[in-house]
Amino acid sequence: MLAVLWLFCLSLPTLWAQILISCTYKSLCQQALLSGNDVVLQCDYPKALWYFSSILGEDPLLLSSMPNVKKLPRGSLQLTNPQPSQTGLYYCQDNDSAILVEYEIDFQDVTTLHVTHKGLGQKPLQNETLSLGGSVLLFTHWEPWQDCNRCEELGERKRLGYCYMEEPLERPMPCWLYLREEKVQYSRLRPELQVEACLVPCDHIKEVNQPFFTFDVYQLGKLTNNMWLTCPLASVYR
Ligand SMILES: *[C@@H]1O[C@H](CO)[C@@H](O)[C@H](O)[C@H]1NC(C)=O
Ligand SMILES: *[C@@H]1O[C@H](CO)[C@@H](O)[C@H](O)[C@H]1NC(C)=O
Repeated sequence: MLAVLWLFCLSLPTLWAQILISCTYKSLCQQALLSGNDVVLQCDYPKALWYFSSILGEDPLLLSSMPNVKKLPRGSLQLTNPQPSQTGLYYCQDNDSAILVEYEIDFQDVTTLHVTHKGLGQKPLQNETLSLGGSVLLFTHWEPWQDCNRCEELGERKRLGYCYMEEPLERPMPCWLYLREEKVQYSRLRPELQVEACLVPCDHIKEVNQPFFTFDVYQLGKLTNNMWLTCPLASVYR
């Protein structure tokens, strides 16, 4: 039985589990994400060539040999465990060197995540104003609340918030895309995660379609040290 489960999970196509970042054809999209969490940048062109240039602005580099980056058969780019150093511009080109889509991604450092729980009275970070030449507002740009983890009983839900900076009358930007080469040490420069209690009715169609499988089996009690359990295919983004 266990062997069957193993085969099943190894052969599971993991694409449905990926977080897909998409952007309109021929446009540039700017986005903040968290480091350490896999994402796929969409480009629907099987012969696509992907290039990357970091925020330090060096010449674009053809992305084919980086260890945690993989072009998928339909053309999109998969980033596994992306790091803050991979913040920068990603673009895909067709075989005539025309740019199809561009992504400017700020992989904010997950190890500095400021986590708060509303029910425990913990406060999220406050807005602050920095003076970097002019005055710049530093704030958290919150994503919508994610789904509740239970239904018809008390559960919890979370939302992610990214570090953004805004000059008066300008469009807000993810912090490290705004700062570029500028090195500032400032403890407010970090992403956030907030948790709150939730109580929602069950959506039965959704409940029966939740994928679920056994990935591995451990016997508890044999290990004396702390144990780290990972939830395969889980994502901080949902
Ligand atoms: C690019 O691909 C298209 C369609 O596959 C083809 O018609 C075109 O000639 C190719 N261009 C070059 C420069 O290879
Ligand atoms: C912080 O700044 C953002 C962006 O201007 C604004 O939307 C938000 O309401 C501010 N929050 C507080 C508590 O002032």
